[in-house]
Amino acid sequence: MSLLIKNGRIVTASEQYTADIYCEGEQITRIGTNLEAPPKTTVIDATGKYVFPGFIDPHVHIYLPFMGTYAKDTHETASKAALVGGTTTMIEMVCQARNQQPLADGFEFWLNKAEKNSACDFTFHQTVSRLDKECEDQLTEIVKKGISSFKIFLAYKGAFNLTDEELYHTMRLAKKLGVIVTAHCENADIIVEMQKKLLSEGKTGPEWHYWSRPPRVEAEGVHHLLTFAEMHDTHVYTVHTSCEESITEALLGKQRGVKVWIETLIQYLVLDKSYAELPNFEGSKYVMSPPLRDKKNQDVHWNGLRQRFISTVATDHAPFDYKGQKEMGRGDFTKIPNGIPSLEERINLLYTHGVCEGRLDLSTLVDCGSTQAAKLFGLFPRKGTIAIGSDADLVVYDPDYRGKISQKTQLMNLDYSAFEGWPIKGRPHVVTVRGEVAAKDGKFVGKVGRGKLVKREPTHF
Ligand code: URP
Ligand code: ZN
Ligand code: ZN
Repeated sequence: MSLLIKNGRIVTASEQYTADIYCEGEQITRIGTNLEAPPKTTVIDATGKYVFPGFIDPHVHIYLPFMGTYAKDTHETASKAALVGGTTTMIEMVCQARNQQPLADGFEFWLNKAEKNSACDFTFHQTVSRLDKECEDQLTEIVKKGISSFKIFLAYKGAFNLTDEELYHTMRLAKKLGVIVTAHCENADIIVEMQKKLLSEGKTGPEWHYWSRPPRVEAEGVHHLLTFAEMHDTHVYTVHTSCEESITEALLGKQRGVKVWIETLIQYLVLDKSYAELPNFEGSKYVMSPPLRDKKNQDVHWNGLRQRFISTVATDHAPFDYKGQKEMGRGDFTKIPNGIPSLEERINLLYTHGVCEGRLDLSTLVDCGSTQAAKLFGLFPRKGTIAIGSDADLVVYDPDYRGKISQKTQLMNLDYSAFEGWPIKGRPHVVTVRGEVAAKDGKFVGKVGRGKLVKREPTHF
């Protein structure tokens, strides 16, 4: 199996140049000009196109029992959607609630689903939804199986959130194992009390979701996390960081030496809280946590990416249909399943609104869409760059494509698109996973079940 990508403009996080890429088996074996290929090689003409390393989404939910229902995608539908959008590796949360199965069983359960059905490569952040001696032993074993990151929640009281005692010991364990802790930072108790208050005042629509978890509630979560991380010098990563207040807390922590990295989401870059205020319950399509914020925050996120104090752009893909799922929260916003799906569109939106609008250069797009996630989560240089010896996960990107996002054409298994009718400039022409073409011009052409668990060594000691 060999593949030759000819004459593309290669873009990594640090370089841009025109060359050919030759891949033999699953890896890149040569980069140069005028490369010759043996007979039967698949040849792709990339003249006038960019060649990016396969993009990595460091925060997705696929199998997700949550808020009384289940997320809609399967590993098959999600990985197909990821691939047509240029994402070749997904990091999914193994997300078992506090009183669900033992952590070890949760991990095996999620792994089994992904191994059978994913068309793209994958790994997991292991959720720590409770902690005792048995959990510590199981987490130690899970790390030995190639999982070098944890996920914790400070929010979702009673379902996922850790007590402070558990948080303290999770940080201690993570440091000992060399694991980075990714964290959902919002104060669980304040949210519950605010929800009760708002509902008692008759404030039941989707627009009130924001007011039950305003920016300060998230910033308190970031501050809280960093205080506990500091006690053990643990490496932490704030997922879906939505607002200036939270970013400021993280940067204050960085200043005093806390090892913290920041993730934003494509939703926070291009949407704002007015979407959740749409009439006739349309706003429910835009309910996620932390909530969409005031528009003024968008510049803070773009600046953070440009100046590289925000490391990554993820999706927090959490797909719930409008009919029958979002509708569960009619008359009570606290029952709207949280999530704005965007796995398929992350890179096209980032390119259209970032690169085409002059907010990001191409190398920053690659850095925040792929390379930083690979470096932080132990995938680099196998993933996240274009180099000899790296996996041949490549995106030949057509900057001249013009189209529109629509639920009718998306591969995500969902009855709406949060970006219906939005114009897109550019999209992946060809996407390869370990040397095989998996997507072409918006169509999936790969193999379901070919995706592999990418094992990762702990590096955050
Ligand atoms: O609204 C969200 N973010 N849904 C998914 C669960 C989570 O908090 O990441
Ligand atoms: Zn979260
Ligand atoms: Zn999430």
